[in-house]
Formats: sequence, C-alpha cells, structure tokens
Amino acid sequence: MSSSATNPTARTVASTQSEMTEIILPNDTNILGNLLGGRLMHFIDLTGAMAAYRHSRTHVVTAAMDHIDFIRPVHLGNLLTLKSSVNRAFSTSMEVGVKVWAENTQTSTHAHVASAYLVFVAVDKEGHRQKVPQLLPETPDELRRFEDALRRREHREAESIRRKEGKLAAAAEEQAAARS
Ligand SMILES: CC(C)(COP(=O)(O)OP(=O)(O)OC[C@H]1O[C@@H](n2cnc3c(N)ncnc32)[C@H](O)[C@@H]1OP(=O)(O)O)[C@@H](O)C(=O)NCCC(=O)NCCS
Repeated sequence: MSSSATNPTARTVASTQSEMTEIILPNDTNILGNLLGGRLMHFIDLTGAMAAYRHSRTHVVTAAMDHIDFIRPVHLGNLLTLKSSVNRAFSTSMEVGVKVWAENTQTSTHAHVASAYLVFVAVDKEGHRQKVPQLLPETPDELRRFEDALRRREHREAESIRRKEGKLAAAAEEQAAARS
C-alpha cells in the first residue's frame, strides 16, 4: 500500500459533494412503469463513486453497499436527483452516503425516494490499496454522519466475523457428515 504524494492530509466533506440527475426512461422501468431497483442501485453506485473519487483522487472500487432504503417508487418520466458525500475516511476505505429524490415534472413536486451507505476502497491502476486523506467534518450534520459512520463500520466488521464463523461451522459440519 502506498500514499500518493499529491494527497493532502485532510479534505472537507464539501469538497466531496457530488450530484447526478437522470430522466427515467422506459428502459429503466418494470412493467408497472416504475424504476427498477437494480437500475436505482446502479445510479447510487455511480454517484457514490463520484464522492469517493473526489476525496481520494485515485481509482476506487465498491467494497459494500450495506444499507439501502427504497422509500417510495420512482415513475417513468420522473427526474431523479442523487446527492452524495463522504461521511468518513478510514485507512484505505471511505463510507459514502447517497440520498435520492424524484421530481414529478408535471406537478414540480419532489419526494425523497431512497438513501444508501456504500464503502469504497481506493486502489491504484494495478489494484493495490491506497491510503486516503482524512475527512474533516465541519458542520453539526457532518459531525453526526462522521460519528455514525464509525458505528456502522464496527457493525459491518462484527457482521463479517459472524458470517465467516458461520461458514467455518457449516464447513466443519459437512466434513463431519462426510466422515460418518
Ligand atoms: C474491496 C477490496 C479491495 C478489499 O480488499 P481486501 O484485500 O479484502 O482488503 P482488507 O480486508 O484488507 O480491507 C481493506 C479495506 O477495505 C475495507 N473493506 C473490505 N471489505 C469490506 C466490506 N465488505 N465492507 C466494508 N469495508 C470493507 C476494510 O475495512 C479496509 O478498510 P481500511 O483500509 O480503511 O481499514 C477487495 O475485496 C476487492 O477488490 N473487491 C472487489 C471490488 C469490486 O470489484 N467491486 C465492484 C463489485 S460489483
């Protein structure tokens, strides 16, 4: 792992803020005319990556999309706006929050339709992990997200250990069954 000489030691949340707007076309929808969940996840991944790129200024890969709420459907013809920013930077990973709104262009009403947390890992061209600058929360909201991101990381790590232990126990049971 290496640290890019051009990376400063810290960046603000504001410097990572990113936004994307899409119009929902027939190809994006299911037979009810609502946006497909997978398509929405794709837009969320892209907008999340923009914030991670702006923070790390290197390549990033998605390590996890660990919490996503689909709050209400998005309809054909809606304008979808996605906003993202880095919540916290760790060693080589960053947690990014993405919030999504749909706009009905006929009535000009806006609704919050989804939110998600993603983790991106900074890598170089060869895929080697890179250290990322630390994040400086400046506002009370940014500070709250910064603190919450650490709790979510601890929760993710505990879940990962639980899954690994579950797999090991299942493999041991299979081996014992095969022997008997
Ligand atoms: C993500 C990836 C780079 C992690 O590499 P790894 O060698 O397993 O790395 P480690 O377990 O040592 O963890 C490295 C960092 O990633 C984080 N990380 C790894 N897996 C994670 C997960 N599932 N969720 C959240 N964070 C994760 C670790 O917390 C660590 O962060 P830190 O350096 O800030 O402390 C690697 O698993 C990978 O390349 N995955 C495929 C990525 C990809 O193709 N994404 C697109 C999929 S559609």
